[in-house]
Amino acid sequence: MIKEFNEWILTNLDSQKGKTVIITGANSGIGFYTALGLAKLGATVIVAGRNKERIDDAIQAIEKETITGTVSPGIIDLARLNSVRKFANEFNKTYTKLDILINNAGVMMPPESKTKEGFELQFGVNFLGHFSLTDLLYNKLKSTQNSRVVTISSIAHRGAFIDFENLRVEKPYDTKREYYQSKLADLIFALELGRRYEANNDNILSVACHPGFTKTELQRHINPEILKKMNFMDTWQGSLPTLLAATNKNAKSGDYFGPDGEGEYGGFPALGVIDKSALDQEVAKKLWEVGIKNTK
Ligand SMILES: NC(=O)c1ccc[n+]([C@@H]2O[C@H](COP(=O)([O-])OP(=O)(O)OC[C@H]3O[C@@H](n4cnc5c(N)ncnc54)[C@H](OP(=O)(O)O)[C@@H]3O)[C@@H](O)[C@H]2O)c1
Repeated sequence: MIKEFNEWILTNLDSQKGKTVIITGANSGIGFYTALGLAKLGATVIVAGRNKERIDDAIQAIEKETITGTVSPGIIDLARLNSVRKFANEFNKTYTKLDILINNAGVMMPPESKTKEGFELQFGVNFLGHFSLTDLLYNKLKSTQNSRVVTISSIAHRGAFIDFENLRVEKPYDTKREYYQSKLADLIFALELGRRYEANNDNILSVACHPGFTKTELQRHINPEILKKMNFMDTWQGSLPTLLAATNKNAKSGDYFGPDGEGEYGGFPALGVIDKSALDQEVAKKLWEVGIKNTK
């Protein structure tokens, strides 16, 4: 597919032979390249998404490439917790282990809408659906040696805040503010998850990452004239922080990988800077309670 992508992963990343990986939202964008990269490195990859046709197309495209691993479909709609449960139940029944869970799927700045359970769509899909999925896969992660969860946040977490009074569009909808809130929730979740695994002596890492500015279908709701003025990385390059977060042997819980260029908008993966908005442990506890209360 893309020569530089191939060269980068084969030079910088270890073999993932024997590993089982779930990637949500793997039919397009960063998730697609993450699935391709891990399949090239030998992993058994579950390409999870909400649309069977799009998943099958992605699998066909990956299978045309030189891969040493395998790719299989998984149906999950993160905007419906019943669908998340169904996916997790099927996975838990079918697979004996889970080495890497990649919470990648996301939606950005759609028209005002809600999940089946009545949450603002971005909060519901980007955070709550993944909170539930990670919880439902806990036993499988726990029984797998050196497993890890990778959660995709964004530069958008900087300076955002969680408005606990506005998770169900109680206030006039602000498309940008709600996206920023959801990506801050993802990063707070990743950090709190790591602390909880550690306190429980679980041999599971929780690592976060972000792709800077990367051209994908995420921008489908943004005015094309605005997009023309922005400087995006190619999709393959935007997947590299995720691939590093998923495979780096030296990664620790709480690490956050992103592009190494100025402001972390572009470049090659390195450890990134976590904004103080993501470090408030009181907010993290409160967010966790929202997750537990609304997914059990
Ligand atoms: N691109 C960037 O510059 C950028 C920057 C910061 C963070 N991110 C993050 O990177 C991650 C990947 O996004 P991307 O840029 O690769 O965008 P993308 O190409 O739009 O991919 C998003 C994926 O999420 C899936 N998805 C959306 N809603 C879903 C739902 N309800 N249930 C299951 N899957 C759902 C989409 O499925 P469909 O194809 O069916 O819609 C798609 O496969 C997201 O978490 C995003 O917030 C991206």
